[in-house]
Amino acid sequence: MNPVLPDPTSSSPQLVCRAVLPLDTPRVLELTRQIWNGQDYIPFVWQDWLADAAGFLAVAEYGERLAGLGKLTRLAEDEWWLEGLRVHPEFEGRGFATHIHRYLMERWRALGKGVVRLATASKRIAVHRICEKLGFHKVAEFGAYDRQAQAEGQASDFCLIWEEELAEAFAFASQSPLLPLCFELVDLGWQWAKPRLAYLQRYVAASQAYWWRGRTALVCVEEDDEDEGKSLMIRWVACEPQELEGLLADFANLAAQNGYRKAAWIAPLQAPILEALAKAGYQPAWDFSLYIFEYAE
Ligand SMILES: CC(C)(COP(=O)(O)OP(=O)(O)OC[C@H]1O[C@@H](n2cnc3c(N)ncnc32)[C@H](O)[C@@H]1OP(=O)(O)O)[C@@H](O)C(=O)NCCC(=O)NCCS
Repeated sequence: MNPVLPDPTSSSPQLVCRAVLPLDTPRVLELTRQIWNGQDYIPFVWQDWLADAAGFLAVAEYGERLAGLGKLTRLAEDEWWLEGLRVHPEFEGRGFATHIHRYLMERWRALGKGVVRLATASKRIAVHRICEKLGFHKVAEFGAYDRQAQAEGQASDFCLIWEEELAEAFAFASQSPLLPLCFELVDLGWQWAKPRLAYLQRYVAASQAYWWRGRTALVCVEEDDEDEGKSLMIRWVACEPQELEGLLADFANLAAQNGYRKAAWIAPLQAPILEALAKAGYQPAWDFSLYIFEYAE
């Protein structure tokens, strides 16, 4: 189905999807205030999203009203991410999100290739339904786990990965037997993608990539941007599955040494990983999980 265009014979408004304009900003911020009790993250990333020339940011207008929005983000030439799907609560249940999603997929077919993914909560049935209708498949499921950081003073065995070790580190991470248990995906910060040298390079350049116990494991970390100053999150981990428990336990030391109260991981929901998390003292932090859906052509 094409995006809904104005029908000159109809007197009632039609939904029109189009590229965003900077002057849409006040109405977008007004819309996002209605989402998740005012806790939507979009206001914090909006200026970056407007400035992102490689992706495509869409709004949907219904008559004079801004009814919704959504964003297509380019991670790599053949790897894309859909995010920010929003419909104003007054317009829910009319198929608007389906239209916005379909419109963004049309833009993707014009702009990109390869694969498109998105993340949504296990409880977000409307998005699951849209994904099913548009040919996406669920490829992964993650859940948030955390534990208190260890008391300061505990020794940890992490060592920053240097730029000149990047090729070696990427070869290590690509061959990690943990990767299949991670659904072959790594966390780029609320965006999951196949491991690539360029993604690891970003963590290395930001001094967020570590070796553990010599070359026993590799881990990339980042401060939890939703919980500023409180949690250090694992974004990417590579090791033998039997080393994971020890790594997770020691990661709580690293978090403490860097001044965080908690160590956290949005972890793949796979039995050996859940077992290692439990043994290392991590607890579930959410009462829902995250589904990753994928569309590939
Ligand atoms: C989630 C959201 C985008 C859905 O928007 P929407 O315009 O109401 O969605 P649609 O009307 O296109 O509905 C999509 C499908 O889900 C179904 N659906 C909607 N809510 C449902 C529910 N609670 N249970 C089961 N099915 C549901 C619809 O019937 C439709 O399926 P159909 O075409 O087979 O009838 C909107 O509610 C929203 O912005 N929520 C807050 C922000 C958010 O959660 N965004 C998603 C982040 S991943």
